[in-house]
Amino acid sequence: PRNVRRGDDGSLAVAGLGVRKLAAQFGTPVYVLDEDDLRSRCRDFRAAFPDVDVYYAGKAFLCRAVVRMIDEEGLHLDVCSGGELAVALAAGMPAERIGFHGNNKSLVELTRAVDAGVGRIIVDSFAEIDRLTELARERGVRPRVLVRVTVGVEAHTHEFIATAHEDQKFGFSLAGGAAAAAAFKILDEDVLELRGLHSHIGSQIFDASGFEVSARRVLALQAQIRDARGVELPELDLGGGFGIAYTTQDDPATPHDLAKRLRKIVDSECEAERLAVPQLSIEPGRAIVGPAMFTLYEVGTVKDVDGIRTYVSVDGGMSDNIRTALYDASYSATLASRASAAEPMLARVVGKHCESGDIVVKDEFLPADVQPGDLVAVPGTGAYCRSMASNYNHVPRPPVVAVRDGQARLIVRRETEEDLLALDVG
Ligand code: LLP
Repeated sequence: PRNVRRGDDGSLAVAGLGVRKLAAQFGTPVYVLDEDDLRSRCRDFRAAFPDVDVYYAGKAFLCRAVVRMIDEEGLHLDVCSGGELAVALAAGMPAERIGFHGNNKSLVELTRAVDAGVGRIIVDSFAEIDRLTELARERGVRPRVLVRVTVGVEAHTHEFIATAHEDQKFGFSLAGGAAAAAAFKILDEDVLELRGLHSHIGSQIFDASGFEVSARRVLALQAQIRDARGVELPELDLGGGFGIAYTTQDDPATPHDLAKRLRKIVDSECEAERLAVPQLSIEPGRAIVGPAMFTLYEVGTVKDVDGIRTYVSVDGGMSDNIRTALYDASYSATLASRASAAEPMLARVVGKHCESGDIVVKDEFLPADVQPGDLVAVPGTGAYCRSMASNYNHVPRPPVVAVRDGQARLIVRRETEEDLLALDVG
């Protein structure tokens, strides 16, 4: 995070608060949110995209305190389940600034979204259009919808998080004609208000050309709809997926560069198709919250395996960060509680779970004198770590602490064994 420094004693401090104090007060593992960092990333996006609606993708990390920060910074919010919607509403997020996503929204979820008056529902299947049409009739309302379009772009990212190639569960295919058919169907249903098209090509993307190709394709569809029906859709959502640096090898584009490229392609495409430029929106999740958090662990054991490598075991693991095991994601780690002049040694930071794939950081140089009781920080864990955390091995999920101006505030408490046992009613 932006406000992390090494103090005079060599230990890390976030926004002026030392990690040893944090660990003593909240225990480990703990996710630490640099609140000003998160807020500054919201502002960076708003400054770079001044006339674009920025929807924070809540799936990256969501809790009431973060919803309030997002709201205060003037962002919109993208939710993709009834649970995320409930958190957003409980935090007081104005419903008209919420967008509702999902490829299999239940009738219960749709009903809640419609009754709450969410600003837009991004429809993803013909069954959903039918469900929503019926619901709108019954409720006497006219929900605003976007059509999620699968644009056929091969995004260069992990297969599990690429979402715009043709063969997959999300959206309506552009090439196959389903996207146009969905738009026509909605236009025929006067109880639904078709506001625009939506495309999201994947996540952790570095090559901005994927966004350009996708923008060009959805705008071509926009023109096709205008030619067929004489309606120009007023909005266009280009999704999220902007990559962040997990290690020094990653070199992501700045929001400013992204904005410039997207604006240019949209403007030139609209001119070529003689379309009015639609109101744009984007949905960054990772790029806002990812770099703003780190996880603080305590080292429990250090094991040198026959000179091959050293395994440094920490008090969490795949239950608080599944991304290394699931996507072969790269993270870094640093000795956080003190300085060390010892030689660097090649280490693997592993967790406490019962499988050998329980790796937090695959390869990292840590000082050779790292020992039990040391604190290790893993940066860049704000996105998709707490939100994908599990209770594997009945390990309670860690808390989230927000730090600002030297003050720590617990925003999600640590799960307890009582919490886990409370669900076990047999
Ligand atoms: N909009 C839509 C429609 C999405 O599906 C997603 C992410 C986003 C926006 C936000 O993408 P972001 O800016 O955060 O990359 N669990 C995976 C990531 C899954 C992303 C799913 N959709 C991971 O840990 O990398």
